[in-house]
Amino acid sequence: MVEAWYMDESGEDQRAPHRQEPHRPVSLEQLRRLGVFYWKLDADNYETDPDLARIRKEKNYSWMDIIMIHKDKMPDYQDKIKIFYEEHLHLDDEIRYILEGSGYFDVRDKDDKWIRIFTEKGDMITIPAGIYHRFTLDENVCIWLYLLHS
Ligand code: LAC
Ligand code: NI
Repeated sequence: MVEAWYMDESGEDQRAPHRQEPHRPVSLEQLRRLGVFYWKLDADNYETDPDLARIRKEKNYSWMDIIMIHKDKMPDYQDKIKIFYEEHLHLDDEIRYILEGSGYFDVRDKDDKWIRIFTEKGDMITIPAGIYHRFTLDENVCIWLYLLHS
């Protein structure tokens, strides 16, 4: 199950969990209200998974690619990592399915507070167009299935 919480905004090591003291969890329902959706899927069988096929069909996510966020596999790794963690928004939804490893998607809530969402293997998340967000690896390697509307 995906886990989310309000971040402490200390600005230290981006790969640390940054939980507040006391911990302030954020529910899936709160995420849904921001337009962030979540599915747990079978990452070992994504190529043949009927659930993924159904979601892609329903949501019209016809395009997909595999992105390995790894210093030996990704051209411009250092630049990309930096860009991912710069607060930004898109004109289309951001749809990411974690095939391997884990990482944090941070989204701003309606009061501009950062919510940190921990995603790991089998988690698929969509961040709606037009909301500010960023991504960082935690201590692990991460492989995304990267999907897009046609
Ligand atoms: C992206 C993530 C990092 O735009 O937000 O790919
Ligand atoms: Ni993005």
